[in-house]
Order: sequence, then C-alpha cells, then structure tokens
Amino acid sequence: MTYSVRMRLITFSGTGNSLEVARRIAAAFPDATVESVLQLLGTDEPIVLDGMVGFVFPIHVNGLPRPVRKFIETVDLANVEYLFACATHGGYPGNVGGQINRILKRSSNSPEATRLLDEFFSIELINNTPKGVAPRPLMRMHWERDIAPKHVERMQRRLDDELPGIIAAIAARTHGYADQYRSERNARGSLIQRFIWRLADGSAPKLDFKLDESACTRCGLCETVCLSRRVAMVNGWPTWPREKECYYCYACFNVCPEQAIGVRHYTKKEGRYLFPGTTAEMLAAQKPVR
Ligand SMILES: Cc1cc2nc3c(=O)[nH]c(=O)nc-3n(C[C@H](O)[C@H](O)[C@H](O)COP(=O)(O)O)c2cc1C
Ligand code: SF4
Ligand code: SF4
Repeated sequence: MTYSVRMRLITFSGTGNSLEVARRIAAAFPDATVESVLQLLGTDEPIVLDGMVGFVFPIHVNGLPRPVRKFIETVDLANVEYLFACATHGGYPGNVGGQINRILKRSSNSPEATRLLDEFFSIELINNTPKGVAPRPLMRMHWERDIAPKHVERMQRRLDDELPGIIAAIAARTHGYADQYRSERNARGSLIQRFIWRLADGSAPKLDFKLDESACTRCGLCETVCLSRRVAMVNGWPTWPREKECYYCYACFNVCPEQAIGVRHYTKKEGRYLFPGTTAEMLAAQKPVR
C-alpha cells in the first residue's frame, strides 16, 4: 500500500539494518527521500527541515550514534509538521526517544516552540557487533551464533511483520510517543539511563581492530566503507589511526570479505554480518563527497 504524504528519511547505518528500514518506509510514500546524516552534516549550510521528517538509525550503547546526536543538536526543526524516529537495535533499545527529546529541548532557544518527537518506533534486528569496546566477559564470544542464517531469516520475517504497522502509524501521523512523553516521567529517561548517555557521549575507548595480515588481500574495501574515514591504507595495508574519529559503526569489521579484521578479543572467522543485500557501495554512499 502507498500513501500520499511527502517526507524526508534521514539515516545513518553501519551494516545496512537502518538503511533497509528507511528504504522500506520510503517505498510506501510517493515523495519520500532517504538522506544520509553524514552528507547533511557535511554541508556548510544550516540544515532546515520541513514537512514530515523521520530519523532512522541504530542504537549505540543504549543511545544515539554520535553523528546522529550531532545532527539532532544542529538541525532546525521548527517548521516540521510531523517528526518521528525509528531505531534499529539488537534487543536493548534503552530510551533513545527520551534522549532525542532531551537534545531537542536543550538545543532550542524557545522552550514554548521546542519541536519534540511525535512518534518513536524501534525494531529488533541482528546485533551487528560482538561488543568490541566491552571487557572480555561482556563480549559476545559466540556472536557467530547470533548471526546464523536461521536468526537472519527470523529477523527478516519480524521486519516483514512489524513494518506495515509502523508505516500505517506514520501515514496516520499518530503521536503516541508525544502523549506518553507528556504523561510519564519515565519517558524522559531514568537517572541510570542519563548516566549511560553521558558516558557514551564522553571519551568512549577507541575500538581496537586487529588485522590478520595473512588473510588480508589489501583490497581496500574497509577503507571504502569507513563512515568516519578513520581507516587509512598505508603502504597498501589498512590501518586504524587512534587519533582519527571512529563512529563505532562496525562497517569495516563486517564488510571484510576475508574476515581479516578482528575486534579486541573477537578474532574468529565464523561469519560477519550485513543486512542481506547490503553492499559496500550502499554503505559508502552515505559519506559526504570530499
Ligand atoms: C557500537 C555499537 C553499540 C551498540 N549498542 C547496542 C545497544 O546498546 N543495544 C542494542 O540493542 N543494540 C546495540 N547495538 C546493535 C545495533 O543497534 C543493531 O545491530 C543495529 O540494527 C545496527 O544497525 P545498522 O546496520 O543500521 O548500523 C550496538 C551496535 C554497535 C555497533
Ligand atoms: S577489507 Fe579485509 S581484505 Fe580488504 S583490505 Fe580491508 S582487511 Fe584487508
Ligand atoms: S573505523 Fe570506520 S568503519 Fe570501522 S567502526 Fe570506525 S567509523 Fe566504522
């Protein structure tokens, strides 16, 4: 079914989950466009949005990925008619709707005119990381089981089941989240939740990627997809300079056809994860043109 409502879907995606969700929502609205957070941030012009706007992104450490947070901090949403967010996650979404509203309130200079979320949706998909910055006991040392084909198929069925309801709610411009936010203190984020957001905002440890040189073919695909341009080919070998920014998207780790990239303690070569059909070109297309 399609609906005659115009909208902009603004996305960030490391392994294709959020891209797929944005693409499918867009397909239901004739004038919808899917745009990259990174490309919008890469323009020098102020970003002013109107009409219907949806942010579609993965949960990172119970909250927003850094580029998405930065985007929401800077964007002008005063003329937006309908605002929603749809987060993809691996089973622990936290309260990211509350985080978005908190940012919107803080960045507004007019409390009465602050634009908050009308609706918030979340969809559980495959967790694309064995939790690379976590200490060993918290890492998923059997992550390859989570990404086994039967789980990927189950995830695709769940997406097929859940998305039509989300699309119908967007088309009807429901505002259940706004009502909940007004009436429930919890929707604003517990103290612990706020602490986690602050921790993730601050100096998260740099991801330590480990290259298996005997497996690496020096194809450069990890550099191609790197959303923050941290990965740099030096003398034909990929490197992850510590001084460069990392968005923790896990594109490099998951895209490597040889599984030559390990992260901290997880160096197994028993599978990597991209949403089925996602290509390196699709991920790389999110980057701003230099
Ligand atoms: C750095 C990082 C942190 C994550 N933190 C969480 C989390 O706190 N809770 C959760 O349920 N999933 C978490 N995930 C899993 C992703 O949210 C999930 O796999 C998402 O669908 C990936 O979407 P993408 O392919 O669009 O990047 C995390 C993933 C990464 C890379
Ligand atoms: S994608 Fe893999 S094989 Fe290609 S350069 Fe990077 S680490 Fe090496
Ligand atoms: S190095 Fe690049 S591709 Fe790898 S996780 Fe960081 S931002 Fe993503």
